[in-house]
Amino acid sequence: MVPGRDCRGSPTPTTLTRYPLAASIRRVKTFIAFALALLTVAAHAAPPRLEKQGSTSQLIVDGKPFLILGGELGNSSASSAEYMRPHWPRLKAMHLNTVLAPVEWDLIEPAEGKFDWTSVDELLRDARAHDLKLVILWFGAWKNSMSTYVPSWVKRDQQRFPRVQIANGSSVEILSAFSANTRDADVRAFAAFMEYLKRVDGEKNTVLMVQVENEIGMLPIARERGPVADKLFAAPVPPELLRALTTRGEKVEPELLARWKAQGRKSSGNWGQVFGEDEWGQEVFTAWHYARFVEALVVAGKKRYDIPLYVNVALNRTGRKPGEYPSGGPLPHLLDVWKAGTPTTDMLSPDIYFPNFAQLAARFNRADNALFIPEANNATNSQGPANAFFSFGELDSLGFSPFSIESLGDAPNALSRAYEVLEQLTPLLLEHRGRGHTAGFRATIQEDGTVIDSPVKKSMAGIEFTVTFIDPWTPRDKQTIGDHGGLLIHAGGEDFWIAGQGITITFKGADGGPPLVGIDIAEEGVFDGKGAWKPGRRLNGDQTHQGRHIRLPPGQFQIQKVRLYRYR
Ligand code: DGJ
Repeated sequence: MVPGRDCRGSPTPTTLTRYPLAASIRRVKTFIAFALALLTVAAHAAPPRLEKQGSTSQLIVDGKPFLILGGELGNSSASSAEYMRPHWPRLKAMHLNTVLAPVEWDLIEPAEGKFDWTSVDELLRDARAHDLKLVILWFGAWKNSMSTYVPSWVKRDQQRFPRVQIANGSSVEILSAFSANTRDADVRAFAAFMEYLKRVDGEKNTVLMVQVENEIGMLPIARERGPVADKLFAAPVPPELLRALTTRGEKVEPELLARWKAQGRKSSGNWGQVFGEDEWGQEVFTAWHYARFVEALVVAGKKRYDIPLYVNVALNRTGRKPGEYPSGGPLPHLLDVWKAGTPTTDMLSPDIYFPNFAQLAARFNRADNALFIPEANNATNSQGPANAFFSFGELDSLGFSPFSIESLGDAPNALSRAYEVLEQLTPLLLEHRGRGHTAGFRATIQEDGTVIDSPVKKSMAGIEFTVTFIDPWTPRDKQTIGDHGGLLIHAGGEDFWIAGQGITITFKGADGGPPLVGIDIAEEGVFDGKGAWKPGRRLNGDQTHQGRHIRLPPGQFQIQKVRLYRYR
């Protein structure tokens, strides 16, 4: 008999007509499937956003959390699609998922009010063609303190767009933050860009976030001079800044707190009275006015397209005074000023070129500021991979991105190998970020580059982990301790993921329970493309020093799955 027909060949009644309940269930199922499909489309179309998870924030893209394994292009590369052509596949091969690339005011608005989106279109087209996401850097009024990315019609009209005046009455090629003309022109261009971005990328979500300006900072003095600036410096400190500092109380960043206290912790007064007349007091004034300028851009930008916006900063060397470094940006000691001055900005993000990466990055990981590192030194810096593992494991960074990424040699290289491992760990990192289940390890490095090779300790899940950066089985002169690093993820119960290179870990009880901790099982392996763990060798004997330690040898990034147990 033919299925669906009776013995005479006539159609049999369908299940639906025979069983009304089954029909209803089918209809409900269809409805649910339809609703889910709609939800998926909606989630896909929703713009990228930040969402709180534990002590940090997740970057949500297409409805799912996203971790940025990034690299920032050299300044001029993205201005030519031709120049970039050979680099896109190379960047993809390095396991990057995101490229940080500038969009320049001078290119998009060559004549006032006339926009040319060619550079943006090409960037989006080429990133999409290589399945890469973008973070756009808005090179507007300021780029590395200076104002060289502004269009000619701005650059050449110093009447309308005044420059910063310095003490001797001359000016520098930095636009004044006190000019409403400059602010409004920058706001108009930025808003136009954000509006265009929404139009051409609002469905595709190629662009994850936008950086507003680049490394804002005042040089070669701590604050602008001239009648307008002098008058403002003599004016009262805005009450909203003092209120914000009062609310944070003892949590105000220590340098600013000390200065405020030294001046009598005043709740009113002019800038000199509240923060001091010297360069440090002047820098607070500069920071506030830069932050207010940025706030105008951010508010206008978000009104057109509401995606995460952040501001980056060039850090200052210890012992230098404001003005000797680009001053007044969102530096560690000025974070509270910037938070109060631009409350709509999502993140303040460090560009870290100093060797004491870990300490500097840690200052930007605050309850009110998720860490993102748009410039993690030059891509060729050999400490990059260790810093990446540390940032994700210890500081819940939502992204890591070395600078001038296209100048790095072809994959495989140290960074691509590190990213390959971090890519495999991404689902686990996203699940555990901000929840106290992860840790990162690297040798402490001082600002002058001195590597402190002593072990570090970390307690998690009742176990104290002691991490050594000197590999026990490799000749000392063949090791670069500053490049060693890794991370740990507590998967739950007795299970841990340990990844990185050049670290050796021993264990003991941390909470008064059984003091000894042994390795039940350790295995190396990889996560396949679908996220399933594929074990390689079971590690035992010499590989764990007969159960005494977990070792990730130098020179090869890897993941080990480790089950520990406690005994007396
Ligand atoms: C930091 C800046 O943000 C980048 O645009 C670039 O100029 C690098 N410095 C160069 O080291």
